[in-house]
Amino acid sequence: MSLFILIVASSLTRSFGSFTAVEDLSLTIERGEIFGFLGPNGAGKTTTMRMLTGLISPTKGTAKVDDLDVSSLQNIPKIHRNVGVLPEVPGLYESLSAYRNLDFYGRLYGLRDPKLRERIMSLMQTFELWERKEDAVQTFSKGMKQKIAIIRCLLHDPEYLFLDEPVSGLDPEASKTVRDFILDLKKNGKTVILSTHNLDDADRLCDRVAVIRRNLLALDTPLNLRTRMFKRTVVFHLKEADDSILQKLKTLPFIQSVERIGNKLVLDLDNPEDNDPEILELLVKSGYKVQFVGEVRHSLEEVYLKLVTN
Ligand SMILES: Nc1ncnc2c1ncn2[C@@H]1O[C@H](COP(=O)(O)OP(=O)(O)OP(=O)(O)O)[C@@H](O)[C@H]1O
Ligand SMILES: [Mg+2]
Repeated sequence: MSLFILIVASSLTRSFGSFTAVEDLSLTIERGEIFGFLGPNGAGKTTTMRMLTGLISPTKGTAKVDDLDVSSLQNIPKIHRNVGVLPEVPGLYESLSAYRNLDFYGRLYGLRDPKLRERIMSLMQTFELWERKEDAVQTFSKGMKQKIAIIRCLLHDPEYLFLDEPVSGLDPEASKTVRDFILDLKKNGKTVILSTHNLDDADRLCDRVAVIRRNLLALDTPLNLRTRMFKRTVVFHLKEADDSILQKLKTLPFIQSVERIGNKLVLDLDNPEDNDPEILELLVKSGYKVQFVGEVRHSLEEVYLKLVTN
């Protein structure tokens, strides 16, 4: 396996009885990237992540993490040593304090004081929960429990992280803390595999995203998905415009469509970097005053909706 590839899934399939939740999923995940799984409720994101961490076995196909086959029981302890998993549901000991929960899991990973205590303190401070360390988890809000579960999966400083909806239930400030933290993990060379319904987060965080709905619908960088699925639209804002300019613009061979909305000209272009200067020149020569030029940026949400509603 290449040094750069961390995970290889080949025709990964998982059925529950006669129902197939994930079918024929093949993909690779590179070391050091932030990789996002997107897809509607029930699309198979959690099932895929559970297979990739060896928590459930595939019905068909294979997955290798760090060259270790996840279907082989003897590989599971080795895989778990290097993996941090944030499950969909935090699953904490509700009657124990936040600190005791983290201390318990830290010991399972073989960590001991004083290193363990320092690690818990530093992470709880980052997520602004140190003041509440002695409180029972059952007195915590949903978002606070989520933060404890995030801290738990980071305790042993794993090389790769599987985060199933990491910002679910978090307020905007806490979401930002988690997003920044994920970007820091990447800076420190970690690989992060996450699932999310927040497409803005996916856009901001992920190097590549896989859109799944039982099968793989698309896999690429957010930017490539946009350009693959939508033409690029450029808007020229003029001081004054009339329809006579439309005929002139249509003489330019690369212009596929042009529409005038008030004083704005809206154009679909394949290559704005090359085309914009020529359009600008024609407009100026024709006596129009160009106030500014902007590109309409299609959101990942538009790409996603186009993919999953087709
Ligand atoms: N243990 C199970 N037994 C039976 N069916 C299951 C089991 N786990 C998952 N499924 C089914 O597999 C499908 C995919 O579920 P999964 O939890 O992977 O979806 P998801 O993409 O994570 O959805 P969500 O966005 O709601 O978290 C669903 O139809 C679900 O009912
Ligand atoms: Mg899920």
